[in-house]
Amino acid sequence: MAMRKDTLFCPPRLLVLLVLGSLLAPSHQEGDFDKWVTLRLTTNVGKSTGGGKDPELTSAESSRVNNGIEPNNDLGGENGYYKTISESIANIPDNSTSRYVLTLQAGTVFREKVFLNKSKPFVTFKSDPKNPTTIVWNDTATTLGKDGKPLGPVGSSTVTIESDYFIAYGIIFKNDAPLPKPGANKGQAPALRVLGTKATF
Ligand SMILES: *[C@@H]1O[C@H](CO)[C@@H](O)[C@H](O)[C@H]1NC(C)=O
Ligand SMILES: *[C@@H]1O[C@H](CO)[C@@H](O)[C@H](O)[C@H]1NC(C)=O
Ligand SMILES: *[C@@H]1O[C@H](CO)[C@@H](O)[C@H](O)[C@H]1NC(C)=O
Repeated sequence: MAMRKDTLFCPPRLLVLLVLGSLLAPSHQEGDFDKWVTLRLTTNVGKSTGGGKDPELTSAESSRVNNGIEPNNDLGGENGYYKTISESIANIPDNSTSRYVLTLQAGTVFREKVFLNKSKPFVTFKSDPKNPTTIVWNDTATTLGKDGKPLGPVGSSTVTIESDYFIAYGIIFKNDAPLPKPGANKGQAPALRVLGTKATF
């Protein structure tokens, strides 16, 4: 589905587990990822842009930059290898017109809060649908932020995507904050929040 602006994934229950539809992809071969992307981009994004080709998108797809995210590597960015998703994102230049494909080590749990700035469009989080990667954090609406104020349902999302043209493939987004006490009503704990347009899952 193509995401509209301001889509807020904020289900009422805690322990939100979003397993993306792409997990049903038949195989994890590289060629299948490319086919899946092409299919998604033509059927979803194509539709939301009036059915025609989106020149910015086409151009971004033709100049891909590949990053590998593996917790146990020590390359510190060399050859595009990083330990954390946030570190890799920090190294994407503002207003990049290339597609950055962040290949997250399969079957790995990344315990980090991820924020993708509006200024970083065309980013893909990619893993293996048969052995998906999990991104998990545990903030709730009542968790206090750096400013000492509660984060609220919006600020507590594990992953926030502000930018356009985001793609996720084979990724589980999770918030594993404990269930609220019975009667408590401020314990929302969303896993994924997408504000950008033309996102694809
Ligand atoms: C990125 O684009 C925004 C919006 O067009 C602009 O305000 C900003 O200065 C640009 N930043 C860079 C680093 O080019
Ligand atoms: C997003 O990026 C812009 C440009 O680099 C920066 O000015 C802004 O503070 C960033 N926003 C957040 C919430 O980090
Ligand atoms: C969230 O996770 C961190 C790191 O694992 C832990 O220190 C903290 O106690 C957890 N917070 C809650 C509210 O469970």
